[in-house]
Amino acid sequence: MKSSISFGFLLILVLPLILASAQDGKYERAAYHDNYEGAVQKDQDYEGQYQDQEKGPAKYDKNYEKERMPAQNDQHDDQGEEEDYHGPSLEIPTLLDNLPSDDLLSFGYYSKSCPKAESIINKHVTKWVEEDRTLAASLLRLHFHDCAVHGCDGSILLNHEGSERKAEASKSLRGFEVIDAIKAEMEKECPRTVSCADILTAASRDATVLLGGPYWDVPYGRKDGKVSNDKDAELVPMGRENITTLIEFYQSNGLNVLDLVALSGAHTIGRATCGSLQYRLYNYAGTGRQDESLDYRYANFLKRKCRWASEYVDLDATTPRTFDNVYYKNLQDKMGLLHTDQSLYSDSRTSPIVDALADAPSDFFSHQFAVSMTKLGNILVPAVQDGGEIRTKCYSVNSNY
Ligand code: HEM
Repeated sequence: MKSSISFGFLLILVLPLILASAQDGKYERAAYHDNYEGAVQKDQDYEGQYQDQEKGPAKYDKNYEKERMPAQNDQHDDQGEEEDYHGPSLEIPTLLDNLPSDDLLSFGYYSKSCPKAESIINKHVTKWVEEDRTLAASLLRLHFHDCAVHGCDGSILLNHEGSERKAEASKSLRGFEVIDAIKAEMEKECPRTVSCADILTAASRDATVLLGGPYWDVPYGRKDGKVSNDKDAELVPMGRENITTLIEFYQSNGLNVLDLVALSGAHTIGRATCGSLQYRLYNYAGTGRQDESLDYRYANFLKRKCRWASEYVDLDATTPRTFDNVYYKNLQDKMGLLHTDQSLYSDSRTSPIVDALADAPSDFFSHQFAVSMTKLGNILVPAVQDGGEIRTKCYSVNSNY
């Protein structure tokens, strides 16, 4: 009851802010708090945390965070009370919400033809993530890259010469072997029934849950596409785009500005290769200096960490193993790893939403993330679906013979 009231109150506070900003673009940004000392301390914390948590189970995460960063967690002491929150989200329905998926997808799609589909997917994802926790974030990203091109049609999984997967832009994508393993068992259980696109969608949901993120129901019935071109992989944003480009890209897929900000919150977990951000650290845009939108202590940390383009660095500098809203707090503190992350806080169309998600309890972000992930998973291109199939192997289209 108390949590419903506090969320209702919060909504009353943030909604006018967002609506006002959408209407006239005017918004007074929250003052930047230069807490770089804290940032450095957090850097040291998560360096050690990385090694420990790589070995530990998902649950270890939260306890560890609490132990290591009492001050930060104190702010969320009332979070336990919010955990059962199922109230309204920031989502404002638009005409675009009537996607083609409404006619094509349903929750009971496999209930007769393959009732074990979800449990097979969950079993494999759990096993793989237990063995290598970093795979969970990779699956989530793989799903985004699938849906961002021709809708969610498994096109990213195809492995022939000239496919999206073979493109330079896809070279750090991971998790393909998880989907192949699921598909192999699925074909034994119910041959030619469950699409690879559906498998990847459910796998990314399960991976999110294993990371401590929200659960959402996945509707099924996606078909696997037969076309995959490496050029199309370049359509997926890679981190250097401006906010207008990102908004347009999301809109072209039926997603709005709130979805853009909420889905970017996926960067609360996972890693980037240093090659994706080194350009921000030296002679940024020909200035001879680092990107000024980056906290200079954090930039120094990144310079030490990123000697090689192939090195990995956490997307969430503060709580990299926890699925929480600290990603947004980092943006307030000029600690967004990618240029696109940080830009969300320097553009008046997106910064009020960043503030809302950063300042509300973390469950608020989780809830909105689930709403936006459902929309992401429901992106379908009718022509692709009409000509689609159920692949027997996720890495190649069915042969015609
Ligand atoms: C605003 C658009 C986005 C941009 C520009 C972007 C960009 C990137 C980049 C550059 C990386 C690091 C790649 C590398 O260096 O290896 C990355 C990683 C990641 N992205 Fe995004 N991304 C966006 C949206 C999304 C969305 C919508 C999701 C999921 C819903 C997502 C999930 C992830 C995850 C989980 C990782 C870490 C992957 C891993 O650890 O293997 N991203 N993203």
